[in-house]
This record gives sequence, C-alpha cells and structure tokens, in this order.
Amino acid sequence: MSVLITGVAGFIGSHLAERLVDSGASVVGTDGFTTYYDPTLKRGNLEGLERSERFRLVEGNLRDLELSELLAGVDVVYHLAGQPGVRRSWGREFEVYLNENLLATQLVLEAVRGTDVRRFVFASSSSVYGDAERLPTRESDTPRPVSPYGVTKLAGEHLCHLYFSRFDVPTVALRYFTVFGPRQRPDMAFTRFIQAAMEDREIEVFGDGLQSRDFTYVDDAVSATIAAAEKGRPGEAYNIAGGAQATVLEVIELLGELLGLGVPVRHLPPVPGDARHTGADVEKARGDLGYAPRTGLKEGMSKQIAALKSLRAEAES
Ligand code: NAD
Ligand code: UGA
Repeated sequence: MSVLITGVAGFIGSHLAERLVDSGASVVGTDGFTTYYDPTLKRGNLEGLERSERFRLVEGNLRDLELSELLAGVDVVYHLAGQPGVRRSWGREFEVYLNENLLATQLVLEAVRGTDVRRFVFASSSSVYGDAERLPTRESDTPRPVSPYGVTKLAGEHLCHLYFSRFDVPTVALRYFTVFGPRQRPDMAFTRFIQAAMEDREIEVFGDGLQSRDFTYVDDAVSATIAAAEKGRPGEAYNIAGGAQATVLEVIELLGELLGLGVPVRHLPPVPGDARHTGADVEKARGDLGYAPRTGLKEGMSKQIAALKSLRAEAES
C-alpha cells in the first residue's frame, strides 16, 4: 500500500503518517511548511517519521510541486494540507485561505483525475455548519459557515464532489470536529490553555466561555481517516467527532483538576468566526466506516498535557 499525505508535517497529518508507516504502508508526505505557525514545530512533528525507511518527505507548496510525479503508484491520497483556523480568516488573510484551501485542492484533484488512486480523502471541517440548524448536526443539514475559512472548506467539498461526479475521482470528505491531543496547533484552545496554566498566566477566554465544542481526540480522527480510505463511499461527506461535548469553561475546569492548580481566566470579547456550539451526529460514520471514538476529554487532555510538559523539558535541557 502506497499513500500520499499532503500537510504531513502538521498536527493531524503527522499522526496519520505515523499510524500508516507503523501498519506497513509506504508514505510519501508533502508539506510546504507554511508560516501560519512556527515551522520549527512542524519539523519537530516529523522527527520520528524521518527515521523510517517507509517514509519520504517532499518539501514544497502544492501549488508549486510537480504533482503527477508524486502520484506515481499511489493508492490513496490524504489531502490534509490547508490553512486552518476560523478566527484569522477575515480581511486580507482570506487570500491565503483561498490559495491554500481552494486553489491547492483543485490542483491536487486535477492531478488525481485519470489515475488509479482508490480514494481521495479530503480534510473538511465542522466549520462548514457554522451555527448549525440543529444539534446534533447531520451531514444532510444545511451548511452555513460563519467564517471565511468555513466557506473555503465548504467550497473544497463542492470541488471534491464535482470531480467525483464528473470524472469519477473517488473523493470522501471528512468534517473533523475540533481535534485535540499531542502536537495540537499552538493557536488552538487546549494548547493555549495548557501553556498559559504551566506559565502561570491567565487563560484568555473569547466571550463568556459558554460556547461548546464536540472535541475529537487525534487518534480517533486518524482511525476515521484511514477507515474512510478503506470504506468511505465516494462522493460522500462524514462527520468525525469525539462525542466529548464541553463548554470552554468546562474544559478549563477539567484542566485545573488535572494540573491540581487554580487556573485564572480573563474574558476577552467574542471573536467573529466562532460558532456558538458544535455537536455531531456520527451515525453515518459509524455505519459506513465502523467509526467509534475511544478517547474522552479527560484521558486525551492528560496526554496532551504530558506531551507539552515533555517538550518543555526537552527545550530547557
Ligand atoms: P496544521 O496547520 O497543523 O497542518 C496543515 C499542514 O499543511 C501544515 O503543516 C502546513 O505547512 C501545510 N500546508 C498548508 N498549505 C499547504 C500547501 N498549499 N502546500 C503544502 N503544504 C501546505 O493543521 P491541522 O490542525 O493538522 O489540520 C489539518 C487539516 O485538517 C487542515 O486542512 C485543517 O483545515 C483541517 N481541520 C483541522 C481541524 C482541527 O481541529 N485541527 C478540524 C477540522 C479540519
Ligand atoms: C478548530 C480548528 O482550529 C479549525 O481548524 C477547525 O476547522 C475547527 O476546529 C473545526 O472543528 O472545524 P475551533 O473550534 O475554533 O476550531 O478550535 P479551538 O481553537 O480549539 O477553539 C475552541 C473554542 O475555544 C472556541 O470556542 C474558541 O473561541 C475558544 N478559545 C480558543 C478561547 O476561548 N480562547 C483561546 O485562546 C482559544
């Protein structure tokens, strides 16, 4: 089995690559080391992988690479590269979101068209739903993004569907719901909260903190992603969520318990682009992919805390 992972140096991509290499697959990974966050962290994510003979890194932005060369002999494409983050996608930054999420996706789909690739798995997002018309949200509910980022992910899904219906590219879109765990991006809530608590700083909460998320542990997201390549129905989109619904304030309370510390909070104004609540119905993924999330909030957060502590210890030694 030979696979191509785009965005391999990122949070989810690096975990996916490790799981696939461990299972015996040959993995070609590409990454452009974009500057959304410190590329040194992305290099660090690849440390284990670079020791494996079954892993090869091709550096470069998808918009510059010779994609058909990368696709030679590839069975599955996992397209995870993208500009993430709902809150930064306004203003002039939107151009970056268009480039990395839409133009790059179209180029990869074009390159896959007419090849023997068995599945093209696209990293979509719960942000396509915006303030969803109902909770738990089903895939058939009307997507109505509340961030420009969500608009690009929804457009990416439409492109995937178009290449499926017109050219039989076997695309499967996964709507990941707020993923957490070791290596989580530095702009995301859990990383920011844990770092603030460890550095004795106040935790910054956007708005009243009563907004909630259906948090998903990264290993569960990886299992779903691999299952989507094996069993996902071409042309379909699936919710991938952890079932660990919590408000931001509940997350902070749990963090305090796990660290055995009081964690002071400072409220900032709400940020445009944030949905109020997310919550998924994962029946479709359960039925088609055999998806069953295994790691809850407490266990997953403990693992993320341990990983951040060991990174700090390494940096200090
Ligand atoms: P990440 O930023 O850690 O990883 C994305 C990687 O893609 C980065 O290493 C970046 O350098 C690379 N990249 C971006 N544009 C590129 C391009 N044009 N060419 C080559 N490389 C490029 O993000 P993540 O949290 O691991 O998310 C992975 C994917 O899943 C993204 O598409 C994101 O939008 C989506 N997603 C993430 C979450 C989440 O909670 N983390 C939830 C829903 C969807
Ligand atoms: C996350 C990812 O960043 C997106 O890339 C992804 O597409 C999206 O999940 C998704 O599920 O589709 P988000 O839910 O905003 O977006 O994840 P976090 O950054 O972890 O934020 C979670 C909550 O914490 C949000 O309500 C946010 O407002 C809040 N938050 C975040 C704070 O109150 N303070 C912070 O410092 C950071």
